[in-house]
Amino acid sequence: MLTTINRGTWGTRTGFILAAAGSAVGLGNIWGFPTQVGQNGGAVFVLVYLFCVLLICLPIMVAELVIGRHAQLDPVGSFGTIKPNTSWNLVGVLGVLAGAGILSFYSVIAGWSVAYIWFAGAGTLSGNAQEMGPFFSTFVANGTLNITLTFLVLVTTAAVLLGGVRSGIERITKLMMPALITLLLLLAARALTLPGANEGLAYYLRPDFSRLSDPRVVGAALAQAFFSLSLGMGAMLTYGSYLNKRENLISAACWVVVFDTAIALLAGFIIFPAGFSIDGFDPTASGPGLIFVVLPRLFATFPGGQIFGAAFFILLTMAALTSAISLLEVPVAHFIDTHKWSRPKAVMFVTTGVFVISIPSALGNGAVEFFGRLPGFEMDFLTLMVTLWNNLALPIGGLLTAVFVGWVWRTDQAIAEIQLHGRRFPGRYLWTFLLRWICPVAITVIILYSVSSA
Ligand code: TRP
Repeated sequence: MLTTINRGTWGTRTGFILAAAGSAVGLGNIWGFPTQVGQNGGAVFVLVYLFCVLLICLPIMVAELVIGRHAQLDPVGSFGTIKPNTSWNLVGVLGVLAGAGILSFYSVIAGWSVAYIWFAGAGTLSGNAQEMGPFFSTFVANGTLNITLTFLVLVTTAAVLLGGVRSGIERITKLMMPALITLLLLLAARALTLPGANEGLAYYLRPDFSRLSDPRVVGAALAQAFFSLSLGMGAMLTYGSYLNKRENLISAACWVVVFDTAIALLAGFIIFPAGFSIDGFDPTASGPGLIFVVLPRLFATFPGGQIFGAAFFILLTMAALTSAISLLEVPVAHFIDTHKWSRPKAVMFVTTGVFVISIPSALGNGAVEFFGRLPGFEMDFLTLMVTLWNNLALPIGGLLTAVFVGWVWRTDQAIAEIQLHGRRFPGRYLWTFLLRWICPVAITVIILYSVSSA
């Protein structure tokens, strides 16, 4: 089919799984997950997170892939084709906006990782954790540097997307993943032998159930699960649209979920044991700087720590890049498919737009001093963006996707798409039940519960 060829398709089956895993594995796993665990009471957050991944996100991952592969279009086009002349294509519009919104702060944080390649390699980082907190704060307060780094990240992401789907994404991911996993395993092995590691493990693995009464814990766990799995805004839908009809969607979805969750959990086995080996460590206090404070201390315990640290941040940056690509690809695919723009024009337009929105986030507290705080908001611009797009837009997008497949398009149609070419789908009744009932009800309850506390 000519249209399919022009849109690009995945080279191989592993190519798709790698690309989807490349989208999922990123800052969300290595930076976001430990940060959220630290701010939301440790093991109890981990437990709620795992429930959200299995019961809510996995069914929605399948739903996104199946919509995309059926319609073979961007999110707006896909919803619009399956249910023409309805407002359902607005779910796609929400996704396109969320892609740009999330990328606007994601590229700032990826910029931090770029800077730390340099800091680690040049020996600027010290093993003294007491110095690393103020060092991080000074760094993020440097507006010009942060804007430059954000720009660099966005331009690189755009350059990969200009190369199209297959050559760009598959190649980077294939190189990066094995190296990243090896390095993480080494770091975990070292962290677990540091003094204080047991305290860290207890914090990470022994739940304090009284924290469940805090609505923010449950809301944060749901949002983190969506974010880490790249769900709720049509990124997986778009990747599914490049899939060939013979592919087994269920096993692809399971692989991505298992892989992504394993890497997030592994990051926790690094940060908490290493963190608690620092005197007076408080996982709540470091906020977004958590890994940038804890990791330098861990690197310093390795012979050749400088090179080791630089290698780590290079891999983290690459992981962030393969995720940023999927964020940018959603709005770009939209302009190509729905508005018939050329790929270069779409990439240029969206990247420029995202860069402009990213500036206040890159300025950090500088923006707060310059513009003042938004009335009623006790947060900086980056946190505002996170709350809006990550904590609200993604779960709402996921909720609407579940309702769409469960009730509007109907799961029998979706199951027929999944079972094309004689593929089997043994869990289809469970999937139908989760998608129709558990996902919508649980997401609604969790959003209302966490908003009620705000
Ligand atoms: N999942 C990525 C991470 O963990 C971030 C990401 C990429 C994302 N694409 C997305 C998040 C789409 C939400 C939606 O770093």
